[in-house]
Amino acid sequence: MTRPDFAPLAPDTVVVSAGRPPHAVDQPVNPPIVLSSTFYSLGVPGAGEKVYGRFTNPTWDPLEEMIATLEDCDLPALAYASGMAAVAAGLSLLAPGNTIVIPSHAYNGSLALVAELEVTLGLSVRRVDLADTNAVLAALVGADMAWLESPTNPMLEVADLPVLLKAAKEAGVLTVVDNTFSTPLRQRPLQQGADVVVHSATKYMGGHSDVVLGAVVTRNPELHARLHSMRTLHGAIPGPFEAWLTLRGIRTMALRLDKAEANAGELARRLAEHPAISLVRYPGLPQDPGYARAAEQLDGFGAIIGIEIAAGPEAADRMLAALQLWTPATSLGGVESLAERRRRHPGEPGTVPENLVRLSVGIENVEDLYADLEAALSDSR
Ligand SMILES: Cc1ncc(COP(=O)(O)O)c(C=O)c1O
Repeated sequence: MTRPDFAPLAPDTVVVSAGRPPHAVDQPVNPPIVLSSTFYSLGVPGAGEKVYGRFTNPTWDPLEEMIATLEDCDLPALAYASGMAAVAAGLSLLAPGNTIVIPSHAYNGSLALVAELEVTLGLSVRRVDLADTNAVLAALVGADMAWLESPTNPMLEVADLPVLLKAAKEAGVLTVVDNTFSTPLRQRPLQQGADVVVHSATKYMGGHSDVVLGAVVTRNPELHARLHSMRTLHGAIPGPFEAWLTLRGIRTMALRLDKAEANAGELARRLAEHPAISLVRYPGLPQDPGYARAAEQLDGFGAIIGIEIAAGPEAADRMLAALQLWTPATSLGGVESLAERRRRHPGEPGTVPENLVRLSVGIENVEDLYADLEAALSDSR
């Protein structure tokens, strides 16, 4: 049984090679899906035996090893039923009456859950502009948790993560980073001092818009044990098939992200010149307020673009309805290009412009993508 130590290998090797059965005669190349809710067992839960399908499942193991390796973590990741289950797990580390610092723009599900906990747990919530480092630093004083998401969904603000994570550590503030947009291929917050990283693996990890799954990663053994125990008790576990599909998706994540990001860079440049668009939000554009930080901190600018339709939200809706190749749909990170006006969701913060359309750029031919957008934009004037 031989397998290399994956940690020192390049991420595009890790995605292909980690999480496979050991090299030995007749071992399959891919890990099998184990469809069993219970396991032969004489011991007690947690004593090295699988016992029951809510406690663990062998299909989770290679996925959890993979995500941990990518995030540079020596404890296995914890897989969850969805990204929101992972977010809820991160927030479950709060105690009643705690103070949390959160971005005023972030994934609206995370914001909605914090707003709910503000009432039910009596949390004190400090909402900050994540791009304003001084404001975040001031808000950290006396806080218990900082919830960070960078770049933010859907405004694509870029936080100064190294500075914020260092300050939070010094102030004894627990940090959780939602790394869904960047993926561990572009940003590894644990290396910068984050305590916990959460993912919606539904997005780039799964990569094909056919699976809903989440993950939490931490190097802290005490936090890991708490999260593991709560996952078992809350039961927010992924199905074996979803875990298997997500691992299969990760195998091509490096290639997919490279292509999607190259497409996004080209589209952002062209769209910035388009008369029907009043603003392009993309950290890879030199004129974007997040550009300098993103260029310094990220290993790539990602494949999400925000465009503001000059003629307003109705025109944006007309543009979406006119798309032939892009699919008007929520979500992101799949091989296919999606577009959505975010304010159609009542829960989206009121400071997100009504005319903002979020583009999740896929891996199609960039000329075809641009031609479809251009044709639909002519309907939006
Ligand atoms: C940044 C971010 N975090 C978390 C989530 C929630 O993930 P899921 O939809 O897998 O529950 C999403 C979903 O869009 C997201 O964009």
